[in-house]
Amino acid sequence: MSQKQLTKTGRGEKIFNQDQLLNLEEKYCSWGDTVHYAEKLNIFKESKGNYLYDRDGVEFLDLQMWYSAANFGYGNRRLNTALKKQIDVLPQLACQYLHEEKILLAAKIAQRNERTFEEKGRVHFNVGGSSALEDSLKLVRNHCGRSLVFAFMGGYHGRTLAASAITSSFRYREKFGHFGDRAMFVPYPYCFRCPYDKKKDFCDLYCLKQFEKLFETEYHSVVNKKNSKCEFVAFYAEAIQGTGGYIVPPQDYFLGLKDILDRYGILFIDDEIQMGFFRTGKFWAIEHFNITPDIIVFGKALTNGLNPISGVWAKEKLISPDVFPPGSTHATFSSNPLGTAVGLEVMKLIEESDFSTSVARKGQYFISRLKKLQKRYPQIGDVDGLGLALRVEICGKDGYTPDKELTDKIVNLGLSGNLTAGGKKRGLVLDVGGYYKNVFTIAPSFYITEKEIDLGVELLEEALSKALRK
Ligand SMILES: Cc1ncc(COP(=O)(O)O)c(C=O)c1O
Repeated sequence: MSQKQLTKTGRGEKIFNQDQLLNLEEKYCSWGDTVHYAEKLNIFKESKGNYLYDRDGVEFLDLQMWYSAANFGYGNRRLNTALKKQIDVLPQLACQYLHEEKILLAAKIAQRNERTFEEKGRVHFNVGGSSALEDSLKLVRNHCGRSLVFAFMGGYHGRTLAASAITSSFRYREKFGHFGDRAMFVPYPYCFRCPYDKKKDFCDLYCLKQFEKLFETEYHSVVNKKNSKCEFVAFYAEAIQGTGGYIVPPQDYFLGLKDILDRYGILFIDDEIQMGFFRTGKFWAIEHFNITPDIIVFGKALTNGLNPISGVWAKEKLISPDVFPPGSTHATFSSNPLGTAVGLEVMKLIEESDFSTSVARKGQYFISRLKKLQKRYPQIGDVDGLGLALRVEICGKDGYTPDKELTDKIVNLGLSGNLTAGGKKRGLVLDVGGYYKNVFTIAPSFYITEKEIDLGVELLEEALSKALRK
């Protein structure tokens, strides 16, 4: 299409049909920041509540909500209003100057953590999850003067260079040079596929014992037994692995891990970017496991996906201005007033709601429906979850061998917008995670109703049964 045609006919959907847009995308959009996984590339035009709508008005039930960023539903009126109000009052402000919403938002998060963990701390803002994660690495290095950290196999912490260094997938580092500060990756307690081939109820946390063994002698390469100093200064963890496939660890795992870390002065850094803000039925996912992290990193749902901000909460000893002075990090948009205004409204919404009850109840209902489905389809190897962070692991007929091909077929059928469950032509948006890319990581809006959960399960069954016949 020529530039002349573009200007002659103006802008907008009336001019460009789907094929024309896809042609332009193919030529002019970097594919590096776009995940070209699906067979069909959907172009969405509208979003409302739990649904996305394509250019033909076909309704897609979204069971991933922007990888758990839009927890409070698309087009949430209260949060959108907060954004619109801020646009008319103080939409832009360089972050070296102060504004009320930033201060109140930081105070609300810090005060909440003070009540939960009985720890004083401060909040530091940035824009995206990976950038906040980088800031947390600066806090760690600043505190310890060293840079090596532990992280989990299956963990995901982002794709900037530093975040890629502590994210387990080699694929994300492969083409980008040498990562001298690459984490030491430790097996996560993924009990459905135990890395040590143990059975959950009889293993006595064997994986933790293996980790502990690293500290037995200096020849295991992490500790100097003469002074108990460890070469690794922090452990980065997602309490529930997100991209790794919404894996819930055994209840006592983190208590045991923290005990080992404390013996060697190793900081515990809790990445809540995907699971924070009640995705699991608690404000932070780590609250399920009765430990106090040294640093918490957050992002995504803080602004419901509107005008992003991310951040870090750290214990006072790590972040007080005496040790982490002005300018230790900086990003132009870090505490942008549009983001902080929405973040503050999210915090107020949380305070006025009872998500701990509703998210837990809806999650249990969703799991019970999925478990019923599992009884009829051996290909659903595992169903589990915490709150509204749910996993459905797709396998072969044996219920165990990962089946990525079948998973992809289901995704593509959902995105085709040609399902008919619920009596009309619809689509289903599912995100895929997991070590073998065979896990649906289900993260619906907190406002999803039981009827919509029923619809989601029906759509999943329709896609699964069609995929099995394909
Ligand atoms: C646990 C976790 N950490 C870090 C990130 C990176 O955040 P962002 O994509 O905003 O940089 C993500 C993103 O999915 C995440 O799930």
